[in-house]
Amino acid sequence: MTQPSPAQKPVPKSLYGGTSSRRITVRDIAAAKERGEKWPMLTAYDAMTASVFDEAGIPVLLVGDSMGNCHLGYDSTVPVTMDEITLLSAAVVRGTKRSLVVGDLPFGSYQEGPVQALRNATRLMKEAGVGAVKLEGGERSADQVELLVSSGIPVMAHVGLTPQSVNAFGGYPVQGRGEEAAQQLLRDAKAVQDAGAFAVVLEAVPAELAAEVTRSLHIPTVGIGAGLECDAQVLVWTDMAGMTAGHVPKFVKQYLQLRDLLGDAAKAFAEEVVGGTFPAAAHTFH
Ligand code: KIV
Repeated sequence: MTQPSPAQKPVPKSLYGGTSSRRITVRDIAAAKERGEKWPMLTAYDAMTASVFDEAGIPVLLVGDSMGNCHLGYDSTVPVTMDEITLLSAAVVRGTKRSLVVGDLPFGSYQEGPVQALRNATRLMKEAGVGAVKLEGGERSADQVELLVSSGIPVMAHVGLTPQSVNAFGGYPVQGRGEEAAQQLLRDAKAVQDAGAFAVVLEAVPAELAAEVTRSLHIPTVGIGAGLECDAQVLVWTDMAGMTAGHVPKFVKQYLQLRDLLGDAAKAFAEEVVGGTFPAAAHTFH
């Protein structure tokens, strides 16, 4: 089949709300930074939810290792495996037409070095069909980013609070506070940019520092708990939709109370079953 040449492909006017139905690429992301356009990113872990976000026009979906907490019932992202990320990334790719799908490299899948990172990122692209991968770390992961990018794999980096290091951090503290920590965060962000990352997540970073990083980079910053000045914003979808049980971080805004709604629907169903009113005639074959 003849592929349209890049010149024939319509360039989306904007990432969110654009009219093009082809998949968003990392070139579109770079163009948005040049235009000064902000964009949203959400996590997704299954085909059906991903299709809702795709139809809503969310340009980038992250199959985050937050699936450990939000989807798989672990108490952190640490236990998540390549098999789990690959399976759920493939589902998200199948559920979407337009969103750029970014697959997260889980803990232990790239820390050994660039060759291990390349092997696992290649698997994620070939088996799941993601358009890019994400990994955590700044200077410490720059060699991995460089080899992936030079092998044709777009990389989103992730600095600041990197949840895979929860055991080293002793929790999930805000990062980059104090002059030394702020300078390290700037060095980390520059290191992944110089290594070829197409974007960098800044997690749990003071807004003023995130603004400085955003001004000093030519790749977009994707903030989560990093203030308004980032080029893009990401939220974990179960947090954003009010599905997460218990405590949610200060930086989360809940746009819906899905947990309550779903619970009410389950109770209504249960009461009709117990009361003998479901199924009604309309739901019955004769
Ligand atoms: O795994 C994830 O969902 C993430 C986002 C919070 C950026 O890394």
